[in-house]
Amino acid sequence: MIINQWYVAAESNEITAGTPKKVRMLGLDFALFRDSAGQVSCLSDVCVHRGASLGEGRMTSAGCVECPYHGWQFDGAGSVVRIPSLPADLPVPKRARVDSYPVQELYGWVWVFLGDLPEAERPPLPEFPEYHDSANWRTIRGDFTWDGNYARIVENGLDFAHAPFVHPSFGDRDRAEIHDFTLEQDAWSARAKVTYIPPLPRGVWKMVRKERTPVEARPGFHLSGSTMRLDVWLTQTWQMVIFDVNTPIDETRTITRWIMARSFFRQPLFDGDSRKRTLKIFEQDKVIVEKICPEIVPTDLREELSVKSDGLMNAYRAKRRELIERGWAIDVEAMRAHVDGKRALVIGSPLRREEDGRNFVLKTIPLVPAKSSAPAQEAA
Ligand code: FES
Ligand SMILES: [Fe+2]
Repeated sequence: MIINQWYVAAESNEITAGTPKKVRMLGLDFALFRDSAGQVSCLSDVCVHRGASLGEGRMTSAGCVECPYHGWQFDGAGSVVRIPSLPADLPVPKRARVDSYPVQELYGWVWVFLGDLPEAERPPLPEFPEYHDSANWRTIRGDFTWDGNYARIVENGLDFAHAPFVHPSFGDRDRAEIHDFTLEQDAWSARAKVTYIPPLPRGVWKMVRKERTPVEARPGFHLSGSTMRLDVWLTQTWQMVIFDVNTPIDETRTITRWIMARSFFRQPLFDGDSRKRTLKIFEQDKVIVEKICPEIVPTDLREELSVKSDGLMNAYRAKRRELIERGWAIDVEAMRAHVDGKRALVIGSPLRREEDGRNFVLKTIPLVPAKSSAPAQEAA
């Protein structure tokens, strides 16, 4: 699991003014809340006083979250603005604060930057213009939880060679060769283009394509949100996009939030059928992905054999490795003390970095050392 990345923490409509929500990401807990102006904040969940869970507190009329134990009130920046037991003439201590993380809302999701990079160094969010183009696209959305590592799940989405074997409605096992495909990349993302001949569609989709003509597909990823995007052109103009973000709950559990956009059958009447088809794909993948050994991508990538058709997946592995080599991977073994409840550790926030860690009570999570100072390891 890697810090200094954007992750989707929740659906926007789950964060309502009035009640905070506790969310687990990267094995740590966070408190999300919306103030009366509509702004969402994300704080580290552990209260610096005696460790109670802020996400289980309540909101004050001033838009602060109130710790359920002794009522300390935290604003969106993570600072305590009131300690009820403290006489009015005594100041609130400077260290009475928790880490607060940058938040953006986009595509109906709350994105949180889990790391301490200044704004100019943070990666962009992935583009999904179809989401805003309701004249030409119909979207549906949902989520799916896996007992699996998020990197394995992203890789599964990038792996077009599995379709004929895992998704019989998408691929044909007797025509499983992947001929040349092209790969486009930038600093944060990569995308492939493949052509394949799928079986004839069934059900209402028979109207889309009547012959066994080649179909173009473009799978790709963006590191922000561990996003996977798959475009499929069923005909020249009938296009479908599956756009999903994959948030590690911890090392071996992942929540995928997905949006499926289609340029055909745009009436709501067809939503149920589209939802069924999308969920079926996830269910078919789940059977395989939850049993992959090892559960996490191996430390030494040479312990798995890749072939040419794994090119897009390998591009993802390469980009992820760069992040690990920068020293941004959580040292999961060293974090066990937190997981086992023996110690509270947090991801450092931008303000903590600005102030060189002064005036913060809790220690930050251990990271795998950067490549320059130690041999890099692949972490989960
Ligand atoms: S533990 Fe939060 S106010 Fe005491
Ligand atoms: Fe799949």
